Amino acid sequence: MTTQLTDLETQLQTLRTEAIGAIASRENLEQLEQLRVNYLGKKGQLSQILRGMGKLDPGDRPRIGALANEVKEALQSELEQRHNALLSAQIEAQLKAETLDVTMPGVYRPQGRVHPLNEVIDRAIDIFVGLGYTVASGPELESDYYNFEALNTPADHPARDMQDTFYLPDGNLLRTHTSPVQIRYMEKHEPPLRIVAPGRVYRRDTVDATHAAVFHQVEILAVDKGITFCDLKGTLKEFVRQMFGVDLPLRFRPSYFPFTEPSAEVDVQWQGKWLEVLGCGSVDPNVLKAVGYDPEVYTGLAAGFGVERLAMVLYEIDDIRRVYSSDLRFLQQL
Ligand code: DAH
Repeated sequence: MTTQLTDLETQLQTLRTEAIGAIASRENLEQLEQLRVNYLGKKGQLSQILRGMGKLDPGDRPRIGALANEVKEALQSELEQRHNALLSAQIEAQLKAETLDVTMPGVYRPQGRVHPLNEVIDRAIDIFVGLGYTVASGPELESDYYNFEALNTPADHPARDMQDTFYLPDGNLLRTHTSPVQIRYMEKHEPPLRIVAPGRVYRRDTVDATHAAVFHQVEILAVDKGITFCDLKGTLKEFVRQMFGVDLPLRFRPSYFPFTEPSAEVDVQWQGKWLEVLGCGSVDPNVLKAVGYDPEVYTGLAAGFGVERLAMVLYEIDDIRRVYSSDLRFLQQL
């Protein structure tokens, strides 16, 4: 046996004993990883010892090779065991630290909610969809034809004064109501039809507690054979019942709209007072003619209401300007 051989063997044995002790004493995974690199890495102690193999008699090499492998495997297995032990300890500690106490009181976070105007629109849509209506819409920038003419309101018609209009230099206008959606929809569809059309409308009104220059309406229209004013009354009664959550008394007051005949304004008895909530009527034959329907065959019902007005009644809001103010002190009360 050459001295070099014994030397290498001693070095390997020492490495093994030392390493096993060191592995057992490491307390966390990073330290353990450092050890692994230190002993088994490319530039680690084992590789360094093995560099000495070059000087050995070729006959002695297999013996050292076998011992080196044995040491390497022993260290690998020790490292692995220690790694697993440390990992489970770490997981256990983490689980303990993160235990949830489900009996702790919750933390209050302020929650957003649907704006009252959107809520009224959403609920109206739900109610009419439940009655078989389809949602329709039209542009806010309208032509005189759709906003007035086709709705039986020619240029010299006194009813134009009812709605102060914002005109554009090109003669177009900002729609003063959602009724033009009736025309646009009928032009593209054949009866029977039922639509509910929510949307923004514009009027040159002086802004005060009950008037805004921009507000919202919801329009309904149904056209079929044999639709009567009775259908209109039943439909609106059901709408009000669902909207207010109770079956309230309704009052149909004779009124005038160019696009309906007969026309009515509807009041709801709410908290002891009669409140006007919508306009309605049987579709005027001239409106049906304007879209090419035969008024001898088809009849229709129509109605429109102001969203702000209904929201003010339902949520007891005293000033229309509040619903646009985005003032959280106000919105949070709803
Ligand atoms: N367009 C009317 C307005 O803005 C409201 C209205 C009345 C709509 C009667 C209708 C209706 O569909 O039949 O004042």
